[in-house]
Amino acid sequence: MDTKKLIAEEIAKVVPELEQDTILNLLETPKNSDMGDLAFPAFSLAKVLRKAPQMIASDIAEKIDASNFEKVEAVGPYINFFLDKAKISATVLSQVLEAGSDYANQDLGQGRNIAFDMSSPNIAKPFSIGHLRSTVIADSLANIVAKLGYNPVRINHLGDWGKQFGMLIVAYKKWGDKEAVEANPIAELLKLYVRINAEAEEDPSLDEEAREWFRKLEAGDEEATSLWQWFRDESLVEFNRLYNELNVSFDSYNGEAFYNDKMDEIVELLEAKGLLEESQGAQVVKLDKYGIEHPALIKKSDGATLYITRDLAAALYRKRTYDFAKSIYVVGNEQSAHFKQLKAVLKEMGYDWSDDMTHVAFGLVTKGGKKLSTRKGNVILLEPTIAEAVSRAASQIEAKNPNLANKEAVAHAVGVGAIKFYDLKTDRMNGYDFDLEAMVSFEGETGPYVQYAHARIQSILRKAEFTVDVNKVYSLKDAESWEIIKLIQDFPRIIVRASDNFEPSIIAKYAISLAQAFNKYYAHTRILDESPERDSRLALSYATATVLKEALRLLGVEAPNEM
Ligand code: ARG
Repeated sequence: MDTKKLIAEEIAKVVPELEQDTILNLLETPKNSDMGDLAFPAFSLAKVLRKAPQMIASDIAEKIDASNFEKVEAVGPYINFFLDKAKISATVLSQVLEAGSDYANQDLGQGRNIAFDMSSPNIAKPFSIGHLRSTVIADSLANIVAKLGYNPVRINHLGDWGKQFGMLIVAYKKWGDKEAVEANPIAELLKLYVRINAEAEEDPSLDEEAREWFRKLEAGDEEATSLWQWFRDESLVEFNRLYNELNVSFDSYNGEAFYNDKMDEIVELLEAKGLLEESQGAQVVKLDKYGIEHPALIKKSDGATLYITRDLAAALYRKRTYDFAKSIYVVGNEQSAHFKQLKAVLKEMGYDWSDDMTHVAFGLVTKGGKKLSTRKGNVILLEPTIAEAVSRAASQIEAKNPNLANKEAVAHAVGVGAIKFYDLKTDRMNGYDFDLEAMVSFEGETGPYVQYAHARIQSILRKAEFTVDVNKVYSLKDAESWEIIKLIQDFPRIIVRASDNFEPSIIAKYAISLAQAFNKYYAHTRILDESPERDSRLALSYATATVLKEALRLLGVEAPNEM
């Protein structure tokens, strides 16, 4: 039920001078709910009707069919509409109680695929906070579009190809220790990589050796391939441990290496379309007409392909494999020039579906207000950080609810949820400061705050032994419950807005508002007291918990029933 539209319709009936859409755009939500739920300003009619706005307002207020509303009144130049709370709350509550977690499901996608390029860490390198952001934001967006009837395809475009693997092979053959790598894959491989780079500065022959090994790898040499495979497998063991902690999974781990045999086609296509030009021995595509200054570098003078060549092959492969409605790349803002080039080259190739590709960028995370820098030792190591978040959550739970049954699982849900929620509540283009204490706090705009509101409602419902009766009419008309009803009614639109803007923060902020509105209600209303309204209050609580849990699920955050 769209109440705004209902009001616009009623106004249009008595103001034929204005189109219904114009009215819809003019309707305002008053700052203070004493002024109604929606207000129509009469200013724009003054010219047309040659009357003072105050007069127009009171004329309209008189003519409007008020039977649909609690009250319609003119105040100065505004007509204020008070919706019929009893009627609307009954409708909204019955919708949520009947649908449960399916409430607000929509079929905009009709089962079409949306590809998400997400997480995509580099083999043998540490999983960075940027990779975490990509993982968490994309996973949430995938949940959001699934709720709208699309089929999300989560693709981990691993950085598992490139000359650095030649370096790594040389280093491992010289100094590597199998057991050390197996015990601590990323740290050990990184050490080897750092060392070979340092030594290559003194001894350029190492570079030449590395290039040779990468050439062998590209040609499918057995030793090179099995070492590469092993580096990849060992790194993935570590990454997967993290994905497990985060409760994120993928439909595909096809990374850059997967496209090794699919790049010739790209180069041939570019050639056939006459798009390749030579520049200092390299093959490039000029993109001036897209306002892009730097040409896309497709092939180096030594014949080696590049990051963008692999991304071109990946884009085409995804279009063919998934016939995506949209293809989303959740990658840090520092790669925005790359994705502009990628889209433009595909467009040049005549692929209009390049318009369906979006780089969903995000900002940088700082720590203690300073930029992260491995060199300066300002780093966030994810596994120990998650463990720390979980242990902080555990001690808060210990203090609040020492007899809780499954403390460990709840602490995990709260600790991990806290990190995810903090990331997701920020507009993604804004970075944030990684502040574990603020993240895990039960107060403020945090994950634990929302989770706690949900758990509190569950405990009220348990105490009341409330069960849903879909044949019953639950209805409320007090001001505090009305704030909650309006929010719940808004949930379907909120999800669409989050999806349109690729912005999970819209859901996170919504969850905070709903939790706050409920806490306010709880402070004013003795929900469990005997009263003719008791069942409706419980139904409202139940509906709030349902929507809170669903909003958290869209963010990839669990909602324990007790905490
Ligand atoms: N591996 C890259 C990095 O860590 C991110 C890859 C992003 N996805 C892509 N299709 N280019 O910077």
